Amino acid sequence: QRTATIPYNEPYRPQAHFSPKEKWMNDPNGMVYYKGTYHLFFQHYPAATVWGPMHWGHAVSKDLVHWKQLPIALYPDKLGYIFSGSVVVDERNTSGFGTKDKPAMIAIFTHHDPKGEKAGSAKFQNQSIAYSLDEGLTWTKYKGNPVLKNPGIKDFRDPKVFWYSPGSKWIMSLATKDRITFYSSPDLKTWKKESEFGQVLGAHGGVWECPDLFPLKINGKEYWVLLVSINPGGPNKGSATQYFVGHFDGGKFTPIGSQTKWIDFGPDNYAGVTFGNTGNRKVFMGWMSNWLYANQVPTLKWRNAMTIPRELSLKLTAGDIWLTSYPVEELEKIVAKTIKVDAGLLAKDNNVFSVIKQTPAQYLLKFNTLAIKDYAVILSNTAGERLIVGFDAKNSRYYIDRTKAGLSTFSKQFAGKSYAPRLSLSPTSNFELLVDASSVELFADGGLSSMTGVYFPKKPYTRLSIVNNGMEIEKLQIQPLKSIW
Ligand code: FRU
Repeated sequence: QRTATIPYNEPYRPQAHFSPKEKWMNDPNGMVYYKGTYHLFFQHYPAATVWGPMHWGHAVSKDLVHWKQLPIALYPDKLGYIFSGSVVVDERNTSGFGTKDKPAMIAIFTHHDPKGEKAGSAKFQNQSIAYSLDEGLTWTKYKGNPVLKNPGIKDFRDPKVFWYSPGSKWIMSLATKDRITFYSSPDLKTWKKESEFGQVLGAHGGVWECPDLFPLKINGKEYWVLLVSINPGGPNKGSATQYFVGHFDGGKFTPIGSQTKWIDFGPDNYAGVTFGNTGNRKVFMGWMSNWLYANQVPTLKWRNAMTIPRELSLKLTAGDIWLTSYPVEELEKIVAKTIKVDAGLLAKDNNVFSVIKQTPAQYLLKFNTLAIKDYAVILSNTAGERLIVGFDAKNSRYYIDRTKAGLSTFSKQFAGKSYAPRLSLSPTSNFELLVDASSVELFADGGLSSMTGVYFPKKPYTRLSIVNNGMEIEKLQIQPLKSIW
């Protein structure tokens, strides 16, 4: 059982998600797979539980599920704080930092100069690189930094780089205020502007941040997906991540259609990008928070976790192409068991936990509905608090209602209800919810509609009920999850 002396055991600490051992964390950075290890770097301030001079924290995993935090990878320096960016493995030794036999890992990140910002310069964000010859443990910053200088755009950051083999060159997607600018390079040291995208498309309620560009196939046909985080201006207030599906010719991204699409409609999935070097598989992880209140949430030793890693796919629905998100199959590793819940028993005592005679702290809840009618899953406690995740048939939308889910006075922006449109046209629906200490992640209709939200009940939720007003549900099951720590 949990005791306060075991690390990662404090109130609200997720047991199935990565969170920093202590202190502040925001965006995932430099996610890359190399030699059997998944690397996760992250925006980190090791001196406080609020945002501050940014470092890159570092954690590694063999399976995307169990994480081990390593020493800090990058510290702020004369050129500034270390803002978000990516890591590549330079297999061809284009940079000359390694060899072909022993390639360098290269981090491409934004140097954010707080002095320049204070002095009113527009050029305080520039792109720099660092390399590691020991599989990410220690890093050397390049003497020629910055490698991409700011032309005079205040918001000029978050480089995401990949090797574009048809053109034998590196491509960088960079957030440049209200658009994404693409650059190319032969060696990661010199960069040439290729094109710009987005000034007249997508959501523009805030500044664009943390782009990612990658190909995905559907029915054997390749499309390119461009992720763009935006803050504020999300569909449910504050921070969120939109995406575009289109074509990329090595220089220019051309979208198909003009509809604004969101990877997750919940309030708490921001700055997410995908791992590099995973072949055709695309694995995404986001920061499970929102700039509206990230600095105020009531955790003590640490602040903010990552989402569960999700596999991304494209799906054709209603004549359009959508991105689906679904927890990676590796999550199975921590499924303690699968408990089928008898719907008859649940009709007599509407508390899944008393029917299964246990109260798991973290679990997956899954069921199908045989019609498209209102239903709700309610998590509650003896303090009268409840979190509701449900479906509103009239408006064809899923929702997370955390209005009365627990503590909320830390921010006026926190309590409330958020919505995700149902995109599936199927006459039955599928509901999957990952619950972990202080977060829910909904993957509905195979991940076509997803939502993520955090919450902070005064007491753990000990009741789990399903209100389905007589509508038939089937394949109801709950999978308690083992702690990863
Ligand atoms: C996104 C972001 C990035 C920036 C980083 C700073 O959450 O604002 O644009 O690089 O956080 O910590």
